[in-house]
Amino acid sequence: MDTVLVVDSTGRGHALCDLFTRTNPDMTVYYGPGCDVIDHPRIVPVPAISLTDPDTALEFLAGRPVGLVFVSNIDALSVGYVDRLRQAGHRVVGPTAAAAALESSKSRGKEFCADHGIPVPEFEVFTDPAKAKEYLRQLPYQCVVKTDGLTPDGDGSVVCDSTADAEAAVDRFAEEFGDTLALIVEERLTGQEISVFALLDGEHAMLFPTALDYKRTLEGDAGKNCDGMGSVAPHPNDSPELRDELRAALIDPLVRGLRAEGLDFTGFVYVGAILTPRGPVAIEINARFGDSEAEVVLPGVSSDFTLLCEAVLAGELPDHELVTDGLDRCSVALVQGCLDPASPEAAVGWPFGPFAVDQPVTGLDRPAADDVSVFCANVRRDATGTPRTAGGRVLHVVGTGATPALARDRAYDRIGSISFPGMRYRTDIGAAPAATTVTYAEAAGVTAGTAPTRK
Ligand code: AMP
Ligand code: GLY
Repeated sequence: MDTVLVVDSTGRGHALCDLFTRTNPDMTVYYGPGCDVIDHPRIVPVPAISLTDPDTALEFLAGRPVGLVFVSNIDALSVGYVDRLRQAGHRVVGPTAAAAALESSKSRGKEFCADHGIPVPEFEVFTDPAKAKEYLRQLPYQCVVKTDGLTPDGDGSVVCDSTADAEAAVDRFAEEFGDTLALIVEERLTGQEISVFALLDGEHAMLFPTALDYKRTLEGDAGKNCDGMGSVAPHPNDSPELRDELRAALIDPLVRGLRAEGLDFTGFVYVGAILTPRGPVAIEINARFGDSEAEVVLPGVSSDFTLLCEAVLAGELPDHELVTDGLDRCSVALVQGCLDPASPEAAVGWPFGPFAVDQPVTGLDRPAADDVSVFCANVRRDATGTPRTAGGRVLHVVGTGATPALARDRAYDRIGSISFPGMRYRTDIGAAPAATTVTYAEAAGVTAGTAPTRK
């Protein structure tokens, strides 16, 4: 097999394309809709493919059949991309829409966990805001209020410090969703978060390295939840014992549950968990790799990924071993902030409010290096070939090293040579523990593109 189609358009999608081409020198990846800024002779963008319309992929495949299709974007998975392409006779890696509902409906994911012995926080599901408030007022612990469905910028969860915060979150979601409101109120856990990944062939799981995702928008883990501002891998708490524990507590019961419910799940599952004194507790099941965790985990993989996908399709994952380089990686997301940080009226930009797209990006033309990579997300070429910003998270800059500090230094050094108007990033990715705390109210004062304070 020497051609695949990857359906995605994020930094994660770029990292997957890189994995296929790097571990198989004969592989050409069609990447739809993909990203035309990626400068690689064997990664070919297919902008005509839409993430929400599998027929566009079928049209492409009719003219150019490929060895397999890898679907790694939740919007595509939720609309039944995998089901549709398989019905048309294609070889596809990815969960069906029914399996992807473990992510696209949080209540479905939680009920699945509870039914199959995967530890989850105490939770209740509501459609009536008054009942949700009545419930949360009598809770003896702090809670998290979540909307049931997918949200565009990953801000569908509000971690509450008080009952008043929680009631305000219920009101906000009630106003936003009206009659379609579905809410989850769950126990707020304390402990280190961890992103756990496994490749599934429907019967078996191959664990991939763990990562730590920096989900909050601002320095010191302040601000609000978003898709993520950066990641490090392996997770700082990683050890063989922890991996065994994660497999036993989360991944093995998940695979048993999928089998018991007859859910057809191939490809990557990503369990977001918290390491608590009572062991790992799952807070979310995702039906695809994490973004930006893919950018720090997948570059460390040296096993031929095409062979692993063949093993997934054959149900033969246990015949293979995952080979990784064991190095540390640190990824920092460069996002669209305000264009004039000096203005007191300036909004901080993504994901707080409006930002201006189409800003020219400079510094991407440096030759590739072993210890630093740039993964493209919301960036596109204009008619003159200039890369321009196209959305919230624009680029993910990844440093690699023998220690977490080296990896972090290399990522921030590379960022120094990239710029676009309004560029904003967290300066404390991989720095532990975060030193400063900026409140949500202070968000508008965040400056764009400041240098890291600590290395
Ligand atoms: P989710 O929308 O479920 O992916 O959650 C987004 C983020 O909210 C997580 O990465 C955590 O930082 C936080 N979070 C979600 N659920 C909980 C919980 N039960 N306890 C503490 N923090 C949580
Ligand atoms: N890393 C967060 C996500 O992929 O949802």
